[in-house]
Amino acid sequence: MQIAIDGPASAGKSTIAKLIAKNLKFVYCDTGAMYRTVTLLAKNNNVGYGNVSGILNLMNSHEIKFLNTENGQDVLLDGKNVSDEIRSEEITNNVSQVSAIKEVREKLVEMQRNLANDTDIVMDGRDIGTTVLPKAEVKIFLIASVKVRAERRYKENVERGIDTPLKTLEDEIAARDYKDSHREISPLRKADDAVELDSSDMSIQEVVDKVTEIVNSHK
Ligand code: DC
Repeated sequence: MQIAIDGPASAGKSTIAKLIAKNLKFVYCDTGAMYRTVTLLAKNNNVGYGNVSGILNLMNSHEIKFLNTENGQDVLLDGKNVSDEIRSEEITNNVSQVSAIKEVREKLVEMQRNLANDTDIVMDGRDIGTTVLPKAEVKIFLIASVKVRAERRYKENVERGIDTPLKTLEDEIAARDYKDSHREISPLRKADDAVELDSSDMSIQEVVDKVTEIVNSHK
């Protein structure tokens, strides 16, 4: 079975997708981590985030690997675990530009489809239900208000020792929403057959229960 979970930044997709995958013993794939890793690759090599040929060359000459772990997914770049590094503010604020590059998307979508081949999977991202796995049996479009998402990011940041004002986070989230939904290729969009869930006033457990109910109705 394929479960696609899409939605805007910080709507809780990864948290929910990880828990669903763990409960069902499915493989979990965080596609945002892939775009983030390519962005990190550009940063580490001083290649501009808009330099298409430079970024493609880097993708061809470096090894990006995804490992399923007990807590979700680890990302290895040339053998080094970069799972934390790809969450930095610098990467978060520039990943939309890298993920708008057509050739980058083509390569990563191919990797994502290969990962989903022959295995039960929960995949989260922006275009899973519309483009990557259009035949997924279950499609969830998870949303939450900008205010709630900024508050969640704020709490996460405080735990990691990052002190960004709430208003800045709100502005960054709104900017990323705009870029992700207005890009030319595979913009963030709810698939026609996706179920929309607004998690603004729901606990994690309530969202997990709701998604589980939807999954069970497809078994
Ligand atoms: O889910 P995330 O915040 O880690 O995603 C990081 C960025 O990657 C997001 O701003 C848009 C892009 N992305 C994408 O274009 N397509 C996906 N399937 C997943 C993420």
